[in-house]
Amino acid sequence: MVKLTIDGKAVEVPKNSYLIEAANAAGIKIPTLCYLELHKDKRGDNASCRVCCVEVEGRKNLAPACATPVMEGMVVKTDTARVIGARKMMLELLLSDHPQDCLTCGQAGKCGLQDLCYQYDIKESNYRGIMSDFPVDESNEFYVRDMNKCVNCRRCVMACSSFQCTHALDFASRGFTAHPTPPFDDPVSESVCVSCGNCVSVCPTAALLPKTKVKYRNWEVSRTTTTCSYCGVGCQLDLLVKDGKVVGIEPVDGAANNGLLCVKGKFGYNFINHPDRLTTPLIRKDGKLVEATWDEAYTLIVDKITKTKAEFGGDALAGLTSARVTNEENYLFQKMVRAGFGTNNVDHCARL
Ligand code: SF4
Ligand code: SF4
Ligand code: SF4
Ligand code: FES
Repeated sequence: MVKLTIDGKAVEVPKNSYLIEAANAAGIKIPTLCYLELHKDKRGDNASCRVCCVEVEGRKNLAPACATPVMEGMVVKTDTARVIGARKMMLELLLSDHPQDCLTCGQAGKCGLQDLCYQYDIKESNYRGIMSDFPVDESNEFYVRDMNKCVNCRRCVMACSSFQCTHALDFASRGFTAHPTPPFDDPVSESVCVSCGNCVSVCPTAALLPKTKVKYRNWEVSRTTTTCSYCGVGCQLDLLVKDGKVVGIEPVDGAANNGLLCVKGKFGYNFINHPDRLTTPLIRKDGKLVEATWDEAYTLIVDKITKTKAEFGGDALAGLTSARVTNEENYLFQKMVRAGFGTNNVDHCARL
């Protein structure tokens, strides 16, 4: 363990911690833009935005809290006039070539840049940058890339290369034209991108946005944490719900997925409200499927199972379940087949 002082508070943290983790442990919030808490072992030191800068006693330069390891006896200050001034300058530099169309921007209300400008009272930039004119890339089926709104935080590159390990993105160009891109600035649909959307989930601005069918603001949605039902990995995610409909999905840092999702978990939700979806059980009568109540359906199932078992024994029955339900539901299903049907004829579509 290492002991240090932050804003006059004594704190003790494991020796491989960064200053930002020590500040969190002391209950002191340091603003960040490029920092990602996910995958500490894989993300490396990013420190591209410098919004998290702090003063460390005895050091000439301000230090990025997200990439400065703690040392025994360090004395750190996180909110001096010098620190605040430096953060404001960083934000003004970022704003100097950023389109300020917050009124119609899809990320307003959950934009890292907007939040920080609000926090530090930045209305406009004292610097004049060169506005970029990147073509908006809509080639991916699930998300849009608008690099004019990119703040070069590198989070998307980290997510794609270090966490997802697809390596579809890296940085190109220098200065005001620096931007993350697939090779040769080709449309992302022509790259090795697998549409997992992890870059979209970590982007703090509207540079990467999901193609959603319903417009919503962050404050209009309620969040329900649940388990993805597409496969047995058990990724944790938040359903974003507006007016009783799922309008988006964001990953949760769960034990099985560490804040990542695949294309199905991230984008595969439009079926939920699809008009073709079955909403009542169907029973075949005179060769035709007709709508029935759940009571009718269950009565029929129980009746047929009971009769079959009485006439032919439990092994005349079998149960087939799905990889798309939770482990708990699969457990209950096999229990029902073994204990209720009286047979070990139970299988699972994942074995196909
Ligand atoms: S969607 Fe996934 S694979 Fe494609 S660029 Fe983003 S992180 Fe990489
Ligand atoms: S696209 Fe988004 S995540 Fe990637 S560098 Fe730009 S702002 Fe950061
Ligand atoms: S997000 Fe993908 S990997 Fe994770 S549980 Fe869902 S389908 Fe499986
Ligand atoms: S959050 Fe630390 S440098 Fe960006």
